[in-house]
Amino acid sequence: MQKAVARAGEPVIRKAVGQAMRIMSRQFVMGRDIGDAIARGRGGEAKGERYFEAYRAAIEAVGDTVDDATGVFEAPSISVKLSALHPRFEFAKSARLRDELAPRLGALAELAKKQGIGLTLDAEEAVRLELLLDRFQADYQSPAAENWTGFGLVVQAYQKRGPAVIDWLADLARETGRRIPLRLVKGAYWDSEIKRAQEQGLDGYPVFTRKAATDVCYIACARQLLNWRALFYPQFATHNARTIATVAELAGTDSDFEFQRLHGMGEGLYHALGEESLPRVPCGVYSPVGAHKDLLPYLVRRLLENGANTSFVNRIADDAAPIEDVIRNPIELLESAPYEPHPGIPLPSRMFAPERVNSAGIDLTDCASAAPLCAA
Ligand code: FAD
Ligand code: 2OP
Repeated sequence: MQKAVARAGEPVIRKAVGQAMRIMSRQFVMGRDIGDAIARGRGGEAKGERYFEAYRAAIEAVGDTVDDATGVFEAPSISVKLSALHPRFEFAKSARLRDELAPRLGALAELAKKQGIGLTLDAEEAVRLELLLDRFQADYQSPAAENWTGFGLVVQAYQKRGPAVIDWLADLARETGRRIPLRLVKGAYWDSEIKRAQEQGLDGYPVFTRKAATDVCYIACARQLLNWRALFYPQFATHNARTIATVAELAGTDSDFEFQRLHGMGEGLYHALGEESLPRVPCGVYSPVGAHKDLLPYLVRRLLENGANTSFVNRIADDAAPIEDVIRNPIELLESAPYEPHPGIPLPSRMFAPERVNSAGIDLTDCASAAPLCAA
């Protein structure tokens, strides 16, 4: 410190300390006066408005690049996260969401339809799944969505409910008589799903605990989508070469579907695929746009995905991993171990065993467990 003071001079250090104190006080003090504090408190709500405006502008701009002759599946589309459109996209706020989120999403959907492009609802944490499906159903069946096949959503195969969600969506498409564009992913929130279930002491995990189980479930979901081509427009989003090959094999000569990759990932893989003799299947690119601070959680999910030793992209870059292992058939892998959760990931109740049982929680975001409690 003495050396720094000697070199920079006291005035500079005094200024730096002053600045640091201001940052600290913003952390622990809400505002300089009550007006300032109230304005800052509104910031959270304003965030929903800010993202709404950003999505609206994006739909306008992207739509303006598309001419009337382009089909909605060929045109670029916009993906939205409902948690960005409302600061409390939570089960306990269902009633508020009907009043506050529904009009925002409705306005975006109407604009996307008018602009001739698609709109996809991203899948987020498992606790938001039922809310997402409720919202999707309401807007998909609304008169405003008639004659528009661009309204789609994402299903995560790492969730044990994945295949049941697709069954439910198939019924919805049958009833409504319109195809649903459906992006199938494995899921980007695995670590936090495991952690949350443990913290809350839930009965089990909403996601699989073995990577091979997720891969097998992805294949099962892909079969559902490909068998029901009249009900779905399948969009397979993956950077795993083995998964892509399986999907291509299942699809046969039918090319009425697409692959998708993330910006900055999988370029080489899809480039190679384009040169193979498969029927030409288009590959969409999910391309986040925004300020660094808004995209931080997204960046962290990409770092986790690229860094995890279970990830295909991580293993393929490891020269020491034999290629036969990297592309092993997940069905064989699953069958080679006892059919039970991963031994390193005990059930939430058993995570402190043998010393003690974890305290039990109730999943208040699950209708089935919340309803008896509310009734009592
Ligand atoms: P792989 O390496 O084959 O699979 C990795 C995945 O396996 C992990 O992400 C995880 O899902 C699963 N996994 C890892 N370890 C385990 C384990 N021990 N037990 C069980 N499962 C495990 N994700 C979303 O959640 N919502 C979205 O809306 C969404 N949109 C996307 C859009 C596009 C275009 C793309 C390409 C991806 C999107 N993703 C989304 C991210 C996607 O979930 C991840 O990129 C994907 O999980 C990686 O799967 P993979 O097949 O490429 O790789
Ligand atoms: C995510 O936000 C891509 O939707 C995915 O990680």
